[in-house]
Amino acid sequence: MGDRLNVEGPVPTDGESAPFVVLGVTAGIAAYKAVEVCRRLVDAGVHVAPVLTERATHFIGKTTFDALGSEDAQVGLWDEASPIPHTRLGQRADLIVVVPATADLLARYAGGLADDLLTATLVATAAPVVVCPAMHTEMWEHPAVQHNLGLLVSRGVTVVPPEEGRLAGGDVGSGRLAEPAAIVEAVLGLLGRRHLRSRSDLTGVRLLVSAGGTREPIDPVRFITNRSSGKQGHALANAASRRGAEVVLVTTSDRVVDPDVVVEQVETAADMEVAMLARAGTADVVVMAAAVADFRPKVALDSKLHKSDGVPDLVLEATPDILSELGRRRHEGQVLVGFAAETDQVPERARAKLTDKGVDLMVANDVSAPGVGFDNDTNEVTIFGVDGSVTDVTLSAKDAVADAILDRVCALLPPR
Ligand code: C5P
Repeated sequence: MGDRLNVEGPVPTDGESAPFVVLGVTAGIAAYKAVEVCRRLVDAGVHVAPVLTERATHFIGKTTFDALGSEDAQVGLWDEASPIPHTRLGQRADLIVVVPATADLLARYAGGLADDLLTATLVATAAPVVVCPAMHTEMWEHPAVQHNLGLLVSRGVTVVPPEEGRLAGGDVGSGRLAEPAAIVEAVLGLLGRRHLRSRSDLTGVRLLVSAGGTREPIDPVRFITNRSSGKQGHALANAASRRGAEVVLVTTSDRVVDPDVVVEQVETAADMEVAMLARAGTADVVVMAAAVADFRPKVALDSKLHKSDGVPDLVLEATPDILSELGRRRHEGQVLVGFAAETDQVPERARAKLTDKGVDLMVANDVSAPGVGFDNDTNEVTIFGVDGSVTDVTLSAKDAVADAILDRVCALLPPR
């Protein structure tokens, strides 16, 4: 199981000032990833007050957080002129997130210890708290760690659980810090994203997205198609455009999109292949959200079949696999995303497609579940990364799912 995110937060009040988030950083090798969390939260319009434990500074410098946070980072209980910095931070915080949370931090927080600035702040706050544990698998699975975590959860603390993956020292197992994008998603979800300034993290990015089910003609009036509505692909185009990307949408659907999105209307898998391959060379991100028909009539008749002609002998052939071709042709730095609509063995099938099709991310959904996939306004997906990462996005509006997918894309884009 990956980290489970609810991308819809509580409804905020309009006109509020920037939410105040204390970013706690503890002494784990994953502390460097807290830098990315800090930057992304600030980009999203959050006021970030970094608090490092003294031992965290052995892993990452205070200066980095001074530069990237909204105020200077704090380490000691006694650094500030004010003798009680923890109460200022604890009272002011709209949320506290600890990245990474070591076994030691979880134990001290669960036990109510307050012997440094971070634990004192945690004990002095009534704000929601998110902990993002990261540690070696043996430590993560230790009963004491799990007990402490259980205690914290019973007190209302949110946990963004670690993932499976490569750990310090080359070991592989569970305990790797969740992706910064997933942590930010959890924080923004809890804060409620609507009073945050709209993000512009895709400014200058050229994004090509396909949407809808293709139609494969039998004759001029009949075709083979599927249940895809194009809603998720169109939501992705709109969300990317809102976030500053230059978006081209290749679609079979006539659904209205943002005026800034360039739309190319297509009908068949063959049309879609031509349109996608022609445009992919200059795209930084390519998302194949379309439900391309896997089979088409070998011959499309020029004139209408009549009942009097008898039941036709329909011979089918495979359509081109556009995504695999895009995978073969992708250029250095291009991020490629595929979709896998499944009804069973979702993780296994999605992981296999990741490598078979040569993509970075595979967005999988179980289309047999209620409210999920084709023609619904909501979706519930799991995003599998070729790096082994797994992110579950709980049942949410397709717009919110689009933002969660784009967050993962952003994390993969080369620095701009
Ligand atoms: O193999 P499967 O059809 O499940 O893979 C789904 C993914 O591959 C989707 O991203 C879909 O857009 C893409 N695809 C494609 N060309 C096909 C079939 C699927 O690009 N002929």
